Amino acid sequence: MSIDIKQICCIGAGYVGGPTMAVIADNCHHIQVNVVDINKTRITNWNNDDFSKLPVYEPGLAEIVKRRRGINLHFSCDVNHNISIADMIFISVNTPTKLKGIGAGQASDLKWIEESARQISKYSKGETIVVEKSTLPVKTAETIKLILNGSKDKSDGKKFHVISNPEFLAEGSAIDDLSHPDRVLIGGENDQAIKALENIYLNWINKEKILTTNLWSSELSKLTANAFLAQRISSINSISALCEVTGANINEVAIAIGMDHRIGSKFLKVGPGFGGSCFKKDILNLVYLCRYYNLNEVADYWQKVIDINFWQQKRITHKLVKKLFGTISGKKIGILGFAFKANTNDTRESPAIQICKDLIIEGAELRIYDPKVNNLQIEKELDFKESFTNHLSTTANLYEACLDADAILIMTEWEEFKRLDFTKISTMMRKPSWVLDTRNIIDRKKAKDAGLNVWNVGVDY
Ligand code: NAD
Ligand code: UGA
Repeated sequence: MSIDIKQICCIGAGYVGGPTMAVIADNCHHIQVNVVDINKTRITNWNNDDFSKLPVYEPGLAEIVKRRRGINLHFSCDVNHNISIADMIFISVNTPTKLKGIGAGQASDLKWIEESARQISKYSKGETIVVEKSTLPVKTAETIKLILNGSKDKSDGKKFHVISNPEFLAEGSAIDDLSHPDRVLIGGENDQAIKALENIYLNWINKEKILTTNLWSSELSKLTANAFLAQRISSINSISALCEVTGANINEVAIAIGMDHRIGSKFLKVGPGFGGSCFKKDILNLVYLCRYYNLNEVADYWQKVIDINFWQQKRITHKLVKKLFGTISGKKIGILGFAFKANTNDTRESPAIQICKDLIIEGAELRIYDPKVNNLQIEKELDFKESFTNHLSTTANLYEACLDADAILIMTEWEEFKRLDFTKISTMMRKPSWVLDTRNIIDRKKAKDAGLNVWNVGVDY
């Protein structure tokens, strides 16, 4: 017999908690889904009647929230009450890299996980299934179990099952990924708890796509999947530098190798380096785990994926300075795109951050445009200081970012940047004018015909 789930609570209303719970609510009308967060502004924005102001931008998300909010999808700051009525609790809180103490710079900071486990231990009632949705180091379920059971009074009737259900969605395509996942992974020890979660997914996902494993395989598979994906990006980016010096074209190389079905064509897009909140943090976490178990060669191997990523970002700044006669001091540069990828308003670990900081240090005057990231977010990411006043401005108009610029630097592959009006841009810029495309999305010929100099990552001819 499996456990019947009527009330779900999700702790953490972020980029994972929000979209994941929206999709569950949309597919399971018989379940009440309560998403809770300690961040009041975030919850207020989830409850905003202006659906363009939801805290997470994802194509298709606003429509689902519009359909289900107030019916079986609820956003609230009342963490304790919603824990107390839940049959199943997803922990979907942030697990960033530790900034200080043991493991600083590598290990995940689990303080939000621990806090959630303590709240569950205190406020839950009866039998509760606790689902690890956050990405966690291997063996974290052990810690969660200890906290849940540690403070338990034997007579209070509380019973917990901890299962791991890592999330594989990518930002910008979260709703599609959640609706049609390659697989759903559930790791655990208790068959009934696993079955209860499986039953939820079976409302819209075929059984063959649901994979069950032991807890530790599930936790480790998530870190490994991200490490493998990021490794492909560092691999292609490393070859982009070789293309530039040899006259090869990285786009052609990517197609040629991707047609070998053993390699495959996905995740071979060259760029300014991977960003986003997870790749770097999860690989650092993997490196930390390997060092902990004295597997130093393995740790060094994965560390290189991160090193190449940082090197790629630095390389782009150097290239720009070189193209502009060795100095960019006082020169205007238009930055097109600030999000770490298209179709998201997320800027965490965006390669644009490091590159913009380096350009400001070189003395450039940046004007940044992004269709979904607001100026406050950009200033926060760049640690805006008084001394930046003449070096940093943002604009809500794409073409304004190009005015009087010596160069424009395309940082995010937004759809609108694929159709730039180069004739217009060329008349607005100072000569000689450069377009540096770190995403390889522009029509090079059109840009050259309009009198612009063009450089693409991995294509330098
Ligand atoms: P996020 O920072 O957007 O959201 C986490 C939320 O949890 C925050 O709003 C925070 O206020 C809230 N929170 C923290 N402690 C809390 C507590 N005790 N009670 C209530 N709320 C609390 O993070 P995210 O991007 O949604 O990532 C969450 C987890 O999912 C991470 O472990 C991440 O690695 C993993 N993950 C993220 C993605 C992604 O694309 N962002 C994809 C797969 C997995
Ligand atoms: C990534 C994974 O793709 C998800 O499966 C995973 O669930 C998630 O991390 C996570 O654990 O957080 P995400 O970071 O949202 O998702 O987005 P990706 O599409 O993977 O892109 C990450 C970065 O790599 C972006 O900066 C993107 O521009 C870059 N990228 C991606 C490339 O440079 N080239 C590519 O071919 C693909």
